Amino acid sequence: MAIGMQEPTRKSAFPEDFQWGIATSAFQLEGSPNADWSTWDPVLSDIPEITNHYAVFREDLKLLKELGVNSYRFSIEWSRIQPRPDTWDEEAIAHYQEIIDILRSYNIEPMVTLHHFTHPRWFLERYPWHRTASVEKFLRYTEKMVSTLRNVRYWITFNEPYVILIGGYLDGCIPPGLRDVPHALVALKNIFTSHGKAYDIIHRYIPDAQVSIAHNMSVFAPWKKWNPFDRLLKKSANHFYNHSIINAFRTGVFIVKFPFSRVVKIEVSIKDKLDFFGVNYYTRIHLRFNPFKKMGVELRHLDIDGHGLTNIGWEVHPRGLAKVIRYASRLNLPIFITENGIATHDAEMKVTYMKQHVDVVERCLKDGLDVRGYFYWTLIDNYEWLQGIDARFGLYRVDFKTLKRYPTSAATYYAYLIQSRSKI
Ligand code: GAL
Repeated sequence: MAIGMQEPTRKSAFPEDFQWGIATSAFQLEGSPNADWSTWDPVLSDIPEITNHYAVFREDLKLLKELGVNSYRFSIEWSRIQPRPDTWDEEAIAHYQEIIDILRSYNIEPMVTLHHFTHPRWFLERYPWHRTASVEKFLRYTEKMVSTLRNVRYWITFNEPYVILIGGYLDGCIPPGLRDVPHALVALKNIFTSHGKAYDIIHRYIPDAQVSIAHNMSVFAPWKKWNPFDRLLKKSANHFYNHSIINAFRTGVFIVKFPFSRVVKIEVSIKDKLDFFGVNYYTRIHLRFNPFKKMGVELRHLDIDGHGLTNIGWEVHPRGLAKVIRYASRLNLPIFITENGIATHDAEMKVTYMKQHVDVVERCLKDGLDVRGYFYWTLIDNYEWLQGIDARFGLYRVDFKTLKRYPTSAATYYAYLIQSRSKI
């Protein structure tokens, strides 16, 4: 355990049923031969099975038991379930059911994500999100999962819909790799329509289901406080990135407004189609107006508070978590921190990051905010999308040559934190 990290004996603000969890995603651990990303990123041709989790998942799930978590968020790899449009792979379905059964046998509550960035290749080629047929295809998959998998109450339909839209349709860095605003707006409508309809399907099969999305929230700041353009960018980014989704769940209308452009309103039937709200939080982003950059904006991470920058250059900014929890509380729903974590080779830095963020959650609980769970991202080192395999978010280090897992002191610390903060 890290020096100075021992907990003083005191009354914890965490309720007994607080969900202490770990979050993962299938593709990042196990790859998939039929996924769009497998051919998108050449790095993956050398490590198609990534950590080999698909084969050794039973061993990996034991780690959850050792940590003492009572919840686990994981995703289903759609391209394994439906490798071709007319084929359901029953073995793959049985595989994910076994994960659920093992979790239940450990008294760990499963939280299942249906869509965590990847798609079957046929979907991306024929029915990408800017085509109307995408909705029906996603709903068929959803219905298959919900009608087949047993003993799941918590469902996340989409992980980080705005990341899919920005990365896939504005920046072009992730599949389908477009830079096309009209397509982005149609894709937004189709993804959220899918969420709304999936919400109803899930509730039809599982009346007491708890359904949400996991929304990536960040804190924004102007690069130079005195610069009115930087301040304007901060305001727009905060509105768009953090609040427009929250507003849309309250009203059924997305209001998208970028600086120097007209307001776009998109109606989508998602009003109140949430049972809780999943918040993924990692960092603060500084914004600078730069007319030579895409959309006139330059993103920077500055180590202003001295907490440091992570392996992938992100600012550590624990206070920001309280801010986004407050934003999310406008929905008047239970909040789950569905992801929070740090990429670093330095396990002590990981320990500090975790402690600081859990402290923030505790302060929010004391202030009466309804946070029901905290899911650390992530269990073992994995494939970190555009950053490849050296980002190191795991509580367990993976040697990518031997694929062996090694506990870091952050794993010991998380186990300790759960135990000590769960005390009443
Ligand atoms: C999230 C994403 C995860 C993981 C994490 C760390 O945005 O949902 O898949 O990559 O970031 O960067």
